[in-house]
Amino acid sequence: MEYSEKVMEHFMCPQNCGRISNPDVSFAYGDPSCGDAVIFFMRVKDNIIEDISYLVYGCCAAVASASMGSVLAKGKSLEEALTITDEQIEQALEGLPENKKHCSNLGASAIKGMIGKYLAIN
Ligand code: FES
Repeated sequence: MEYSEKVMEHFMCPQNCGRISNPDVSFAYGDPSCGDAVIFFMRVKDNIIEDISYLVYGCCAAVASASMGSVLAKGKSLEEALTITDEQIEQALEGLPENKKHCSNLGASAIKGMIGKYLAIN
C-alpha cells in the first residue's frame, strides 16, 4: 500500500493533535467497521473556529485525516467548516489508497458532528 507524501507528513507529525484547554465542545466519532476512533475538541469565538484539536486512535490514514481535517477547519466560520467533505480531506492529503478512502470520513464526520453539537447547545 502506497501512501502519499502528504499522508506520511501528517501521520509522522500530526497537526493540532492533543487536547485544547477550555474547549466549548467535544465530540467523539468512531468507525464501527474497523474500530478506529477520534475525539475532537473546539473553541469558537465570534462564529469562527478559534482552536481545534483531537485525539485519535487508528490507522495511518485515520491519523492523517484527523490532522488534515483540523487544518482545514481551523480559522474557518462554522458554516464554512460544515462544508468540509471526505473528498476535500482526501484531496488535501493528495489521495488515499483505495482501501483507505473510507478513513477520510473519520475526520469529516467528527468535525460535522462536533459543529452540529455546538450549534445545538449554543
Ligand atoms: Fe479505520 Fe482507517 S482503517 S479509519
